[in-house]
Amino acid sequence: MQDVEPIVARALAEFAAAPDPASLENAKARFLGKSGELTALLKTLGKLAPEARRSAGAAINAAKERLEQALERRRAELASARLEARLAEEALDVTLPGRGRGRGGVHPISRTWARIERIFGSIGFDVADGPELETDWYNFTALNNPENHPARSMQDTFYVDLKDPGGLPLVLRTHTSPMQVRYARMHRPPLKVIAPGRTYRVDSDATHSPMFHQVEGLWIDEDVSFADLKGVFADFMRRFFESDDIEVRFRPSYFPFTEPSAEIDMKFDSGPLKGRWLEISGAGQVHPAVVRNFGLDPERYIGFAFGAGLERLTMLRYGIDDLRLFFDGDLRFLRQFA
Ligand code: DAH
Repeated sequence: MQDVEPIVARALAEFAAAPDPASLENAKARFLGKSGELTALLKTLGKLAPEARRSAGAAINAAKERLEQALERRRAELASARLEARLAEEALDVTLPGRGRGRGGVHPISRTWARIERIFGSIGFDVADGPELETDWYNFTALNNPENHPARSMQDTFYVDLKDPGGLPLVLRTHTSPMQVRYARMHRPPLKVIAPGRTYRVDSDATHSPMFHQVEGLWIDEDVSFADLKGVFADFMRRFFESDDIEVRFRPSYFPFTEPSAEIDMKFDSGPLKGRWLEISGAGQVHPAVVRNFGLDPERYIGFAFGAGLERLTMLRYGIDDLRLFFDGDLRFLRQFA
């Protein structure tokens, strides 16, 4: 019979040289598999004389055992080498400095929004919220807007391809004033509410944006006067700007839903627009026709309303000269408020 030693020597060499588990198992098959070299040798035993068969059989079995042990060892070696490699590859260097995470900040308009809610909340105003997609009736008609008012034109207003139950197209609300009517029709007087929110107009320049924010204010009771409007608004301004000497003027104006009407301007006292007046709010005594649309008797109920621009207030507070900066999403600008 063929000598087993050279076969064992070759097998051991191949096992040791196998670079990965698959090659090792292939090498195993070549020696110990069904048609492996050692198995083939075992099959020749039958041809030997009993005496020689016993010793050859013992030699082959001993060789098989050695190979199996060597195989086990090599398997373990390859497995731990693989583990080492993975550990090295996925190593985490905990001593490296952290990459850091950008801290979010509150947008300047949101800051203004929150300040306004806080200030008016402290003097007993409720805060209301309503739809940005408005019906023609709430946005215009209920507010005494005449049929031919320019705000109703396509050039000034975004109309939507959806109709209200009366067949009129819905509009993106052009002001927060419809909230006066919505709130009044759902509450009993005295009505004392602000309604901040998004508004829309076909308008775009340094002081106008197609989407902007307003806060509506409404105070209706049996004896709320224009003097109350001046008092409440001036107090709000002083607290909003944290200053007692701000320059504000009430300029006579016209709105269909107020009589008398005023526009409230404020002077920039710093920044690139120093000395310039900026309109921040419309205001007035609510028109009797509107009070009637509130579902109230205008002979009994009277009061004021205002609608102020949040962007304008924010520009004045921080001395910002271009309102578009609020919506550009430029972090160099926004970070200054974080
Ligand atoms: N809605 C008006 C606008 O957007 C602003 C306004 C004026 C609101 C007078 C009022 C008001 O409540 O009384 O131009």
